[in-house]
Amino acid sequence: MNVLLIGAGGREHALAWKLAQSSGLDTLYAAPGNPGIARHATIPPLDPADHRAVIDFVRRNQIGLVVIGPEQPLVDGLADNVRAIGVPVFGPGREAAKLEGSKGFTKDLCARVGIPTARYFKVTSKDGALACLEDFIVEGDVRCVIKADGLAAGKGVTVAMNRAEAEAAIADLFTGGPVQAVIEEFLEGEEASLFVLSDGTSVAAFGSAQDHKRVGEGDTGPNTGGMGAYSPAGALTADLEGRALGEIVRPTIDALAASGTPYTGVLYAGLMLTAHGPKLIEYNVRFGDPECQVLMARFEGDLLETLLAVAEGRLADLPAPNFAEAVALTVVMAARGYPGTPETGGEIKNLDAAEADGAIVFQAGTRMEGDALVASGGRVLAVTATGARVADAQTAAYAAVDAIDFPTGFVRRDIGWRAVEREKKD
Ligand code: AMP
Ligand code: GLY
Repeated sequence: MNVLLIGAGGREHALAWKLAQSSGLDTLYAAPGNPGIARHATIPPLDPADHRAVIDFVRRNQIGLVVIGPEQPLVDGLADNVRAIGVPVFGPGREAAKLEGSKGFTKDLCARVGIPTARYFKVTSKDGALACLEDFIVEGDVRCVIKADGLAAGKGVTVAMNRAEAEAAIADLFTGGPVQAVIEEFLEGEEASLFVLSDGTSVAAFGSAQDHKRVGEGDTGPNTGGMGAYSPAGALTADLEGRALGEIVRPTIDALAASGTPYTGVLYAGLMLTAHGPKLIEYNVRFGDPECQVLMARFEGDLLETLLAVAEGRLADLPAPNFAEAVALTVVMAARGYPGTPETGGEIKNLDAAEADGAIVFQAGTRMEGDALVASGGRVLAVTATGARVADAQTAAYAAVDAIDFPTGFVRRDIGWRAVEREKKD
């Protein structure tokens, strides 16, 4: 079967790497792709934002499955448009993609069907936002989270630990006039991400991970798309995972099916493991980046067969997805300046040496300049390794990082630190 993969990041490189190992694959096409993806796929001149061009390409190249990696094309309705010509798609349609595209949509759905999540208000004006701060007083001061409604690529969220921070975030949010936003209760606990496949009716757990969103060591500094991750998330025990599936994911899938907008693809539930059980922080309607890299490093099944079963509504016929017991850990090498303006054009060398001991270097923001591989974006590489414990995977991943020659890049040196600390106590 021919497959078209949409996307250009480290997530899509990991998907391409795994799809290329599938026995049923004939030709893998990827657009826009990157030099890492090009090792496993043909990169046609195709703009995924041009839905007519995508449909034409799918028809002309006998594509049997379209896999959509990033959220933007999903929110834009690319999955609906391809399904309309009868071709299976891995990824939700426009309505179901609102789970990521609109925080207000998700919060209202949670409220309607009783899904545990932070208490919230939807606001559309500065005065309305300021007024609801009185409902979020903890130990004599304001404590809340302020979120802009639309897709924000990891930005647009302020955790305010006092009134001054909350007021500053609200002033900032409404500088350009009215916008939609959510103000919600601050949840305490450890965060974990749960991935679940759904074909609209059935669900299957598809691994867990923890990522590191802040740019600096010790989880400090500005938010990023993710500086590293590991899988599985030890904090998400089998019991908590069962609760999250039953109390959060299952009712969401059922509610969307009941509305006539079934969810097809992978649902990424960002959870807070609170003293009262798992609560939903947010949904994403795609694999995480770099969480996908660690999931693919552990997934033991045939990816094409699995994604096709999801896209064709046959998930219930598949055996439960199987993951290696090993821990996978990925370290993002970013270009200097990220998450501000990254320094692009820096040369990257020695990837073969980095992969010599079994690590995998997934490429994100890279491009070829003549024969040289250079940085072209903020997050450039995701250096991924496995090991029996988090500490082993961490050692192997940093050994591979150290083999790479990328002078204009930087990494966090402490990916996995919470889990490594926990292992020391075991
Ligand atoms: P989001 O874009 O909704 O995932 O928010 C980004 C980050 O903000 C999350 O990964 C959390 O670390 C933090 N966050 C969001 N909502 C809450 C909440 N209600 N309580 C505590 N932290 C939160
Ligand atoms: N790493 C976080 C995300 O993909 O949203």
